Amino acid sequence: MLSKILSISALAAAAQAISISVASSGGNATSAYQYGLMFEDINNSGDGGVYAELIQNRAFQGDNIFPKSLDFWNALGGAKLSLQNLTTPLSAALPTSMQVTGGNDSTIGFSNVGFWGFPAIAGWEYKGSFWVEGDLDGNVTVCLAGDDNVAYAEASVEVSTSSKWTQYNYTFSPTVSAPNSNNTLNFTFAASDLTGAVNFNLLSLFPPTYKNRENGLRVDLMDAMADLHPAFFRMPGGNNVEGVYPPYWWNWTQTIGPLEDRPGFPGAWSYENTNGLGLLEYLLWAQDLGMTPVLAVWSGLFLNGTFLAEDRLGPYIQSALDEIEFCMGDASTTYGALRESMGYGPFEINFVEVGNEDSLSSGGPSYTAYRFNAFYDAIHAAYPQMTIIASFYDVDGATPPFNAAGDFHEYAIPVQMSSQFGYFDNYTSAHPLLIGEYAVVEYDQPGTNEPLWTAGAGRAFMPFWYGSVAEAIFLLGAERNSDKIIGASYAPGFQNLNRWEWIPDLISFDANPAHTTLSTSWHMLELLGGTRITENLPMTITDGEYGPAYFVAGRSAVTGAHIAKFAVYNGTESFNLTFAGVGAGATANLTYLTAPMNASQPIGGNIVQTHEQTVRAGRNGVFSFKLPEYSVAVFNVAANAAGPGHNYGNAGNRHGWKGWKSWGRDKSHHGVLNQWGQTL
Ligand SMILES: *[C@@H]1O[C@H](CO)[C@@H](O)[C@H](O)[C@H]1NC(C)=O
Ligand SMILES: *[C@@H]1O[C@H](CO)[C@@H](O)[C@H](O)[C@H]1NC(C)=O
Ligand SMILES: *[C@@H]1O[C@H](CO)[C@@H](O)[C@H](O)[C@H]1NC(C)=O
Ligand SMILES: *[C@@H]1O[C@H](CO)[C@@H](O)[C@H](O)[C@H]1NC(C)=O
Ligand SMILES: *[C@@H]1O[C@H](CO)[C@@H](O)[C@H](O)[C@H]1NC(C)=O
Ligand SMILES: *[C@@H]1O[C@H](CO)[C@@H](O)[C@H](O)[C@H]1NC(C)=O
Ligand SMILES: *[C@@H]1O[C@H](CO)[C@@H](O)[C@H](O)[C@H]1NC(C)=O
Ligand SMILES: *[C@@H]1O[C@H](CO)[C@@H](O)[C@H](O)[C@H]1NC(C)=O
Ligand SMILES: *[C@@H]1O[C@H](CO)[C@@H](O)[C@H](O)[C@H]1NC(C)=O
Ligand SMILES: *[C@@H]1O[C@H](CO)[C@@H](O)[C@H](O)[C@H]1NC(C)=O
Ligand SMILES: *[C@@H]1O[C@H](CO)[C@@H](O)[C@H](O)[C@H]1NC(C)=O
Ligand SMILES: *[C@@H]1O[C@H](CO)[C@@H](O)[C@H](O)[C@H]1NC(C)=O
Repeated sequence: MLSKILSISALAAAAQAISISVASSGGNATSAYQYGLMFEDINNSGDGGVYAELIQNRAFQGDNIFPKSLDFWNALGGAKLSLQNLTTPLSAALPTSMQVTGGNDSTIGFSNVGFWGFPAIAGWEYKGSFWVEGDLDGNVTVCLAGDDNVAYAEASVEVSTSSKWTQYNYTFSPTVSAPNSNNTLNFTFAASDLTGAVNFNLLSLFPPTYKNRENGLRVDLMDAMADLHPAFFRMPGGNNVEGVYPPYWWNWTQTIGPLEDRPGFPGAWSYENTNGLGLLEYLLWAQDLGMTPVLAVWSGLFLNGTFLAEDRLGPYIQSALDEIEFCMGDASTTYGALRESMGYGPFEINFVEVGNEDSLSSGGPSYTAYRFNAFYDAIHAAYPQMTIIASFYDVDGATPPFNAAGDFHEYAIPVQMSSQFGYFDNYTSAHPLLIGEYAVVEYDQPGTNEPLWTAGAGRAFMPFWYGSVAEAIFLLGAERNSDKIIGASYAPGFQNLNRWEWIPDLISFDANPAHTTLSTSWHMLELLGGTRITENLPMTITDGEYGPAYFVAGRSAVTGAHIAKFAVYNGTESFNLTFAGVGAGATANLTYLTAPMNASQPIGGNIVQTHEQTVRAGRNGVFSFKLPEYSVAVFNVAANAAGPGHNYGNAGNRHGWKGWKSWGRDKSHHGVLNQWGQTL
């Protein structure tokens, strides 16, 4: 009886089933990278985000763009706070410090408001430090104080009068968690212990960090990235590398060494970067998450459009070569030795990108005429194996005249990305393409191919489900062309919910770890990127066609599994799927995600549902199953569940995209949005 009912429903499904047979060889060469991350300090996602430092404006850094200030500091007990450039500063890089002079109360001091609060979590061991000089002799109490006047953690630090800058360290650990992150860090001392003026600088507080690294990264955000199994890391950013205007560009030498030797940098996103998150921290981040760096070097273009004349490029090309040597060189090289002296062995760099979005501004012609080639020639001569990437991403324009890979960026709406499964099919350049940034940024306006321009930001606040499915279609189209597409990285990665400039973002957070929000796109990427196909295999569609379902298939040399990945857009779809060599009796795991079509994640919550189901191959090894509309799925036949006749062999070619083809551009495409949401 039961089997009868089952077969009737199966027959009904068969009316629309799409039949796919996956061959056992002959697929496109497959990139080892495919799914990666891009990061820059935007939306307070470096300082105030992934970089775990909890004190904001810790060293009174600033410049012509973001002047030095006492922002985020408050006086306590009537103390007077002022910025001073002492004749003996803490360091040349940190010339300005905070001076405290007496007030009326018997206990005085100052407090920091953190990056919109401090987490106070029971059991966390916090490590604090500060530098001090001047006329204070006595104990400084450092207190993680709640707005409910509870001291969640406290340390007492004995300070002596000195005209020499001295660093003091302390640790503390809350025994109970604060109900929220509305906490401040208060430094107080007896007014009677202060006989004149006392000066503070580089005041730092770290929670536990990922892998317990000193000067390290925030654990929950690193965990969230690790769960995506990213393969590459485009760093240290896009616009930030360029700098806002002369003379500010991301000069790596100012981001290494002791924190007191890092002057800070006016980031491109409306705040000063401490440079605590420096070149080594980025490299360790890549290493800790198993990502290969895609190292961006400055190309001689500032964001405001000023670019360097050809005869002025020399020192900057040398700086890029030195930077690569710092990353990769052994102890016999100048900069390799410098890195070794900091305690780190060489990092492998396989990709260097010259600049960021050099095609976008008035810098385009100079990039084409001389800037790119000047960097390329020098880097290629020193590192012939290096894949060098041009930051050109003009898809509708002329073929970049470079003997190098390109970097394609796309910010779009669902109607566009959902129609781009075939977009990279016709990309037949001799050179690969990185999709260094992509995202669906806004809802479709019903009935048009225009964005909706939601109220307020004019952008979706967070990724939303049908946009994430549209991204999945675009990504699968890139994945099946991963002989030509190195990989893709969503951008931007993070949004601090208290200060952001660009939405939507992959992960949202604030000082309270309970608010960390993994977007719908994060869930889509966790599934698609978490299952790595190392050998794409050709598929024959014997019945049906692409749309509303899109898919790729292949094998994993790592697990031996046969894999198919699906993105289903506006319509339920049934499938009859076979893999050559997988026979009757094989079983597969089908994992698929669904969510309400228009929904975004609530802060700290999740509306994406994960469905898991076992599918058994019928006669002739046919797997029959169904996927709902707006779903993303991975179908996995483990090697040991593939039944008799399983054909898994050497997947081969997993690291190479050896046979690049030549290509013609798809000029039919319109509606690519630039970074400001305008149609190009
Ligand atoms: C396709 O799948 C349906 C169930 O959805 C099944 O009844 C039918 O036999 C399958 N077709 C083939 C050729 O296996
Ligand atoms: C300290 O020096 C900086 C330049 O490094 C200058 O901008 C600032 O005005 C000076 N501040 C004071 C208080 O003298
Ligand atoms: C001052 O702090 C030290 C620890 O740094 C502590 O041992 C000492 O008891 C404190 N003194 C007072 C008066 O609180
Ligand atoms: C204080 O902490 C810093 C940073 O962790 C460390 O470099 C320094 O050696 C410590 N100093 C002392 C006196 O323990
Ligand atoms: C934290 O403080 C902010 C601003 O002072 C306030 O709006 C918010 O309600 C507070 N949060 C909690 C959980 O008390
Ligand atoms: C800590 O500093 C804040 C000001 O930022 C103040 O409102 C609060 O009362 C202080 N708490 C304690 C326990 O001193
Ligand atoms: C960029 O900024 C610099 C410094 O303010 C200025 O001299 C230059 O003219 C600007 N360039 C452009 C193209 O506006
Ligand atoms: C980078 O910064 C260092 C340290 O401030 C400086 O010596 C060097 O000249 C800068 N590099 C270039 C190419 O300007
Ligand atoms: C790719 O090229 C083929 C053959 O010229 C054409 O039929 C197809 O529409 C193109 N695909 C895209 C996505 O432009
Ligand atoms: C290989 O790439 C072509 C387009 O270049 C695409 O049509 C085809 O589906 C890809 N093959 C596989 C197995 O993904
Ligand atoms: C899905 O969207 C496409 C493109 O807008 C449309 O042609 C098609 O009819 C839609 N399918 C369903 C089942 O709504
Ligand atoms: C399917 O998933 C289950 C539970 O996660 C796992 O134990 C099993 O090995 C998987 N089987 C296949 C065929 O992948």
